[in-house]
Amino acid sequence: MSLKGKNAVVTGGGKGIGRACSLQLARDGAAISIWDLDGPSAEETAALIKGEGGKAMVCVVDASSKQQIDDAVARTRAELGPISVLVNNAGMTGFTPFMEMSEEQWDRMLAINLKGPFLVTKAVVADMLAAKWGRIVNISSSSAQTGAAAMAHYVASKGGVIGFTKALAQEFATTGITVNNVPPGFVDTPMLRSSPVDVDAYAQTTPMKRPGKPEDIAAAVSYLASEAANYVTGHTLSVNGGRYSN
Ligand SMILES: NC(=O)c1ccc[n+]([C@@H]2O[C@H](COP(=O)([O-])OP(=O)(O)OC[C@H]3O[C@@H](n4cnc5c(N)ncnc54)[C@H](O)[C@@H]3O)[C@@H](O)[C@H]2O)c1
Repeated sequence: MSLKGKNAVVTGGGKGIGRACSLQLARDGAAISIWDLDGPSAEETAALIKGEGGKAMVCVVDASSKQQIDDAVARTRAELGPISVLVNNAGMTGFTPFMEMSEEQWDRMLAINLKGPFLVTKAVVADMLAAKWGRIVNISSSSAQTGAAAMAHYVASKGGVIGFTKALAQEFATTGITVNNVPPGFVDTPMLRSSPVDVDAYAQTTPMKRPGKPEDIAAAVSYLASEAANYVTGHTLSVNGGRYSN
């Protein structure tokens, strides 16, 4: 229970990786503010946490809208108290060949996957600075390590998340705040299942011959959020079943 007494925000906590992170951080002792566009899914995550004896609240929020973020931060502080753990997980994907990619598609991807984490981090980091302790874990993507065809906008956004992580880690290094990222690769979530990827066929081409589970990512996030990781910052902790080594 290393996070006992601490409050965590998990964006996109309604489904997939964000739900698993919310459940794991709650098991680690944190109270969780689940932020998601999808209210019913976020409520389900909260019910799962409460069913295990944990504490959770829900904010229905677009984690790329400054006004909605500010409202969600205010609600979270009022109900739980200061925020000391942030998992920037909310994101979208998309598959469009570069020559067909529109400016609007590019802007939307960057707004949600890269500007969103910037805005959310700006809104919550004051609590961490005041406490002289904080944990920021950004969910990037293995595609930013390998490249991926027809995903230039997505890969650029996630490459930006890795750079953002490294820059903030340097800037906050003396403040007690660590900033790290986990790039998932091929994890069985609603996002993967709604993509054009044939999950079972692709699994056979991977070293472990199976997709990852959301819990595999949550375990890495739990470590990076823990006291045990207090000398780890700016790090990219790859969780991809051996598909890419760095
Ligand atoms: N699944 C994978 O294989 C994989 C691989 C690499 C990276 N990722 C990254 O992991 C993160 C989570 O992915 P997932 O597979 O669990 O996705 P998912 O689509 O299964 O779940 C994402 C959740 O985020 C919410 N969400 C989306 N946009 C939002 C917004 N603007 N504001 C608030 N909530 C929002 C959705 O409603 C949903 O509940 C994403 O950033 C994704 O890019 C996933």
